[in-house]
Amino acid sequence: MINIGVIGYGYWGPNLVRNFAETPGLSVASVADFDPKKLEIVQKRYPGVNTTTRFQDLLENKDIDAIAIATPVNSHFELGMAALKAGKHLWLEKPMTETSEQARKLVEEAEKRKLVLIVDHTFMYTGAVRRMGDMVKSGELGQILYYDSTRINLGLFQRDVNVISDLAVHDFSILDYLLGEQPVAVSAVGTSHIPGTPENLAFITLSYSSGMIAHANVNWLAPVKVRQILIGGDQKMIVFDDLEPSEKIKIYDKGISFTDNPQQIYEMRVGYRTGDMWAPHIDATEALRVEGEHFVECIKNGKAPLTDGLLGLRVVQLIEAATRSMNERGRSVEINGLSMHQGRRVA
Ligand SMILES: NC(=O)c1ccc[n+]([C@@H]2O[C@H](COP(=O)([O-])OP(=O)(O)OC[C@H]3O[C@@H](n4cnc5c(N)ncnc54)[C@H](O)[C@@H]3O)[C@@H](O)[C@H]2O)c1
Repeated sequence: MINIGVIGYGYWGPNLVRNFAETPGLSVASVADFDPKKLEIVQKRYPGVNTTTRFQDLLENKDIDAIAIATPVNSHFELGMAALKAGKHLWLEKPMTETSEQARKLVEEAEKRKLVLIVDHTFMYTGAVRRMGDMVKSGELGQILYYDSTRINLGLFQRDVNVISDLAVHDFSILDYLLGEQPVAVSAVGTSHIPGTPENLAFITLSYSSGMIAHANVNWLAPVKVRQILIGGDQKMIVFDDLEPSEKIKIYDKGISFTDNPQQIYEMRVGYRTGDMWAPHIDATEALRVEGEHFVECIKNGKAPLTDGLLGLRVVQLIEAATRSMNERGRSVEINGLSMHQGRRVA
């Protein structure tokens, strides 16, 4: 049994504790939060779990094997480094850190100590994204031409991170998973509608050497909530609507064909193909549950997680590049040498 301590019981922390409590091989030993009122809730829901306002208690507890950190991003590096130095395996919320330099230091520390570092890019453990990954990798969609994502709603305005770091972070991790190819350049425009606060709206475009283009529209100031991704392949196309209770993914057998035949030069060169649409069955297991089991397996077998520190680092590098572009009114920022080596063992 792996004993885990959770730091941060705000919005996301309760989801971690609920899933960890139900995950075979994991036992929630203790929860830390600055706010005693939140700890009262923990005590009511989980009478067997210790609570404390001092996160240090978790690090000093020799019975705790792993620490999960669900605090605001600006505390991830300091808390994560302290957990690793205390010899604990680490579950870190997304985005991993504020800077890529901090992320790199955490990756190195975990590697040096042979500890598992998982970054909670939750989408990669959803049935929908895994299914889309299978389709892209099997070639069923054909050549991928574009990825177009919309993540808009009213709020939550964050005080410490911009909307790219809060919402586009999901697209960066999903793209990394689906394509296994890294973008060569990013261009972003965005703005803050409240002076002195981080940007609450951004349009981000990623270019790939294959010619693929990815776009994300992220916005905390929209009247409706939309969570939709279109993936266009030259054989088939996918619409993923995360707000659909069932049938989240629809596959369209639609596309175009065109001819260079000189005899048809005066005719329409583009032909449209409209075939069937179907919604495949998607595994509905909660992503955090799948991810919790994966974390246990990685600790037991010394394996690097699917969403390891290097993936977390690549995502932070993209957030930095997109933010730099946004600060320079959309200048194209080249991306060189994102940190790879997925699939290695930690021990
Ligand atoms: N994976 C996802 O899909 C997902 C979704 C939402 C949030 N998140 C991430 O989860 C993290 C937390 O976000 P949130 O919305 O829950 O924040 P939040 O502000 O609602 O909660 C953070 C909690 O941490 C506590 N805290 C902060 N520093 C602490 C410390 N040093 N010791 C003890 N307690 C401390 C605060 O008192 C607060 O209760 C962020 O990194 C966020 O990006 C991830």
